[in-house]
Amino acid sequence: MVTYSAPGKIFLFGEHAVVYGEPAIACAIDLRARVTVQKHSEVLITSELGKGKDKHPYVSKAIEKMGELTRFDGARVTIDSEIPVSSGLGSSAAVTIATLAALNEEFGVGLSKEKVAKLGYSVEKDVQGAASPTDTYVSTIGGVVLMPDGNRLRNLDCEIVVGNTGKISSTKTLVQQVRALRDRYPGVIQPIFHSIGNLAKKGEILVEKEDYSAIGELMNVNQGLLESLGVGCAELSTLIYAARGAGALGVKLTGAGGGGCMVALADKAHVERITSAIESVGGVAIKTKITEIGVRRE
Ligand code: PMV
Repeated sequence: MVTYSAPGKIFLFGEHAVVYGEPAIACAIDLRARVTVQKHSEVLITSELGKGKDKHPYVSKAIEKMGELTRFDGARVTIDSEIPVSSGLGSSAAVTIATLAALNEEFGVGLSKEKVAKLGYSVEKDVQGAASPTDTYVSTIGGVVLMPDGNRLRNLDCEIVVGNTGKISSTKTLVQQVRALRDRYPGVIQPIFHSIGNLAKKGEILVEKEDYSAIGELMNVNQGLLESLGVGCAELSTLIYAARGAGALGVKLTGAGGGGCMVALADKAHVERITSAIESVGGVAIKTKITEIGVRRE
């Protein structure tokens, strides 16, 4: 029996545009999914969502893919996650990566971390259609990562406050919605993707310079561009404006949007005020930090 954990993530810049090859910066956060795997005669998957393969499409697919690399009858897989589901924090990627790493060890497959990340990406693609490798890669290696290159950047020395709207959204549906918009108006939407990519490029320099107020300012610009792609919603805007009003350096949605979470960059002095502001308008605030720890054995 073995347990592995892997972190969730936030996007500092670049969700959606990254699906079209633009650069993005994502950061692993200190909220983790833990997965325990034990050899068994059949496949049994359990989490707070319930029991069974149907409730756990990512884990089922991970088991299927591992089964193509080595022969095994089954596994008892138990998931315990601190990451809210379907909220833009990469919970499915974290569970997928922790599952693959645990299966890898329990069945002696011998995959490298790089291979685990790649396999995780293929699981996400199979389950949700279009996907970028961002979530699975960042969950594997941890830290602040420039995609699609996969380069690690300097860690951010500031606070992160996540605000959860509690409204669940489907990454698959939102990615399809953005694709349809791009197909209707390629000449309008493609330059927006490109501008988002430029924010990530500029962000790379600002992260190295530790210029958090400029990073925040550009996160606000990124939010405007995400709104223009149609992935904002009233609930997100309410939390975003509350956090900005409470002194956040910058605030934007994170992940697919249409609900889910926003992320605020903040200095220590403003964290409590931002947290209360998010909660006073009905959101759930989570104070967290960037973590350099990717997937690891517990
Ligand atoms: O909502 P999440 O955490 O699955 O993030 C989705 C990010 C997108 O850029 C919209 C899609 C992707 O796979 O990169």
